[in-house]
Amino acid sequence: MSVIYLDHAASSWPKPPEVLKAMHDCMDQYAANPGRGSHELAVKASRVLFEGRKQLAKLFNIKNPNDIAYAHNTTFALNLAIKGFIKEGDHILCTAVEHNSVRRPLEYLKRTKNVQVTYVKTDEQGRLSLDDVRREITSKTSLIVSTHSSNLLGSIMPIEELGQLCREHHIKLLVDAAQTAGTMEVDVQKLGIHMLAFPGHKGLLGPQGTGGLYIDPEIDLEPLLHGGTGSQSEAAEQPDVRPDRYEAGTQNTVGVAGLVEGVKYIHQQTVEQIHAKEWKLTQRIMNGLMEIDGVTILGPKIGQNKTGIVAFTIHGADSSEVAFILDQSFHIAVRAGFHCTPLAHEMVGTLERGAVRASVGCFTTEQETDQLLYAVREIAKHFK
Ligand code: ALA
Repeated sequence: MSVIYLDHAASSWPKPPEVLKAMHDCMDQYAANPGRGSHELAVKASRVLFEGRKQLAKLFNIKNPNDIAYAHNTTFALNLAIKGFIKEGDHILCTAVEHNSVRRPLEYLKRTKNVQVTYVKTDEQGRLSLDDVRREITSKTSLIVSTHSSNLLGSIMPIEELGQLCREHHIKLLVDAAQTAGTMEVDVQKLGIHMLAFPGHKGLLGPQGTGGLYIDPEIDLEPLLHGGTGSQSEAAEQPDVRPDRYEAGTQNTVGVAGLVEGVKYIHQQTVEQIHAKEWKLTQRIMNGLMEIDGVTILGPKIGQNKTGIVAFTIHGADSSEVAFILDQSFHIAVRAGFHCTPLAHEMVGTLERGAVRASVGCFTTEQETDQLLYAVREIAKHFK
C-alpha cells in the first residue's frame, strides 16, 4: 500500500520528475566546484547557481539576484539574518508563533548580547494584531521578525502592514517564509520585506539542503561563516561582494540544480493556483473533521485565509499516539507533537499533548484527504 503523504509543511514529497532528473544530470555530467575554477565544468556549475538566483528573484520580485545568499536550510538563513543584524542592546519584536529557528537564536542573543526580545501574542486562531505590535515598539527596536504563516496553525501574518509599520519607525523586517515560499505570493517589494528566509525543500519543491536568505542591498550583515569563496582569495577578510560575502565554502550545486526545476515548476503552475488548490483541500479536511466527535481544529476558522496546514487534537488522545496509528494502521504520514513552536502551543492550550498536523501539497488529492478523514473517524471512536 502506498503512503498518503500529508506532511508537506515539514518537507514536500514527492518532487516533480524534472527535479530528480536535473540532480541526476548534475551528478552525472558536471558536479564540479562552482566559482573555484575557469574550466568548462566549473563554469557550468556556476551557471546553475546563477540560474537558481534568477528564478528565485523572479518568484520573490527581488531586483538583484545577487542579493540572495544560498543557505542549506531556513534555520541557517534565519541565524545569518538574526546574528548578522542584531547589535548589543537592541530590542527585537517577534510574534509568539515563531519557530524555534527564530526563538532560539534570539534567546541566545538575549543571554550573550544583552538583547531585549518581546514576543507579541496572537489570538487563539493565530491572528496577529498590528496595534499589539505597535504598542511594543521602543526607541531601541531595530528589527521585527515574523513568520509569514504559523507552522502550527497555518494562520497568515499581516506582513504588508508590518512592512508599513517598519517603514514608519525605521525598523527592518525579517520574514520567515518557511511555510509560504512557493505556496503564497511573496513579493519583497510590495510587502516591504528587508530580509526573507526561505527553504528550498518545502513549497519550492527542491531537495533538502537548499534554501536561502534575501538581504536588502542597504543592509550590511555580518557573515555567519568566514572562509573560501573562490573570489579575492589573496584577501585576509571575507569579501564585501555579494553573494560571496555570505557564501563561504562549496555550495550545494546538485541541490540547487534540483531547486531550479522546482521553482520553474511553480512558475508554470503559478503560486496563485497552488495556493487556491491547497486552500480547497484544507477546507475539505476541516469540514470533515468538524463532523467528528471529540476532534478540535486549531487555528483559523473555516472560510478564513490560511496555508495548507490543519492542526487538530482528538479528545483524550496524545497527538503522537494518533500519528502513530495513522502511520501504522492507515499508512498516512502526518506530524505530531510540539512542532518546534512551544509558545504557539501554550497560546492554544496544547502544551501537554501536542497536536496532530496534516499538511497538504500541490500533488495532494481529494481522495487522500478523504482517507485521512476516514482514519481520524475510526481513531476518534476509540477515545470516546
Ligand atoms: N519547520 C518544519 C515543520 O514545521 C520542519 O515541520
